[in-house]
Amino acid sequence: MAIPRITVLVSGRGSNLSALIEAERNGLLGGTVSAVMCNRADAPAVAIAAAHGIATTLVEHRRFADRGAFEAALGAAIDASDPQLIVLAGFMRVLGAAFVGRYEGRMLNIHPSLLPSFPGLDTHRRALAAGVRVHGCTVHFVTADVDHGPIVMQGALAVHDADDEAALAARVLALEHQLLPAAVRAFCERRLVIAGERVRVIDGVVPATALVVPLSAAAADLISPV
Ligand code: GRF
Repeated sequence: MAIPRITVLVSGRGSNLSALIEAERNGLLGGTVSAVMCNRADAPAVAIAAAHGIATTLVEHRRFADRGAFEAALGAAIDASDPQLIVLAGFMRVLGAAFVGRYEGRMLNIHPSLLPSFPGLDTHRRALAAGVRVHGCTVHFVTADVDHGPIVMQGALAVHDADDEAALAARVLALEHQLLPAAVRAFCERRLVIAGERVRVIDGVVPATALVVPLSAAAADLISPV
């Protein structure tokens, strides 16, 4: 069977893109990052893709009259890259229902909170303001409802008393870099089964750090003493 082709959509820093590329290099992705799409010419992620010889297509939203025109161009670029999987890795544009519907069941997003808590922006600041003791990140299938699709995997960690937004963001980001490649690998290996709002992960491989769900019974003990 041909190795699954993955198109990654980015808008900024590109650290999750780097994590995917790194996992592929180490034989841990189960697919190949064959194309990158970016909506901002100045995004550091563009240079990361270039440094690895990955074809990057710039589709700058500000050059289009409206969201429909932007999404038509983005969709054409994605389809030309012929992916089995599309990954939103820090892609900062809301995508419309028709667009999302075209890629139903094969578009993943990484979000920096334990959904359904804190959809949207400024998740770490809001988590601290709410006083939660457990925070983390989520990989989910993309649906028209922003930050709400079926959850594939979640990574959780304890919030420390001394945490500020930057410290918490850094720890969650490190967790994202484990979680996203693990979820992509499960997709590429056809180990994700969507059943309504729930996703079953067959033979889930649990990354070593923090608490990643699905988890083993032993790891569940980690969650109590925060
Ligand atoms: C990550 O925190 C991701 O969860 C969110 O946007 C951020 C992107 O960071 N959707 P990077 O560009 O991958 O470094």
